[in-house]
Amino acid sequence: MLSKEIETALNEQLVIEAKSSHSYLAWASWAENAGYPGIAKFMYAHSDEERQHMLKLLHYINERGGKAVVPALDKPEVTFNTITELFNRLLEHERSVTANINEVVGLCLSNRDYSTHNFMQWYVAEQLEEEALATDLLDRLNLIGNDKSGMYMFDRDIMTMRGA
Ligand code: FEO
Repeated sequence: MLSKEIETALNEQLVIEAKSSHSYLAWASWAENAGYPGIAKFMYAHSDEERQHMLKLLHYINERGGKAVVPALDKPEVTFNTITELFNRLLEHERSVTANINEVVGLCLSNRDYSTHNFMQWYVAEQLEEEALATDLLDRLNLIGNDKSGMYMFDRDIMTMRGA
């Protein structure tokens, strides 16, 4: 049985994953309209992955005797003008998700909830991968700068990448 405190923390993480999925969906649509089909495909796939992250939490909460709450979601912000700005936003977003996950992990330890601590390790590993990929993509974008053929290749290459 989950403690109230852990149940609340997991439901908060569920909101974060749902918002992530929603943001990636908005970013995918933005990229599609901006003429970057590869980036759009990457973002759509990542939106689906974030939904899976949300579902994983939902099932865990319910299976452990808690009550998962499906939240209402605000319209995501799409305020960037360039692809580099978009990926900067993405990295910043994933860093804040990692910080939240670390908070939940800390709470699991202080509550001596070792099962949830174990469950959360999957998220810890996933965030490591996501941040590494976002950093790598940003490094490439910074090298490309304003070079149009470089951007074309970036869009083509990202088409075949897993959303991490
Ligand atoms: Fe599931 Fe990228 O956070």
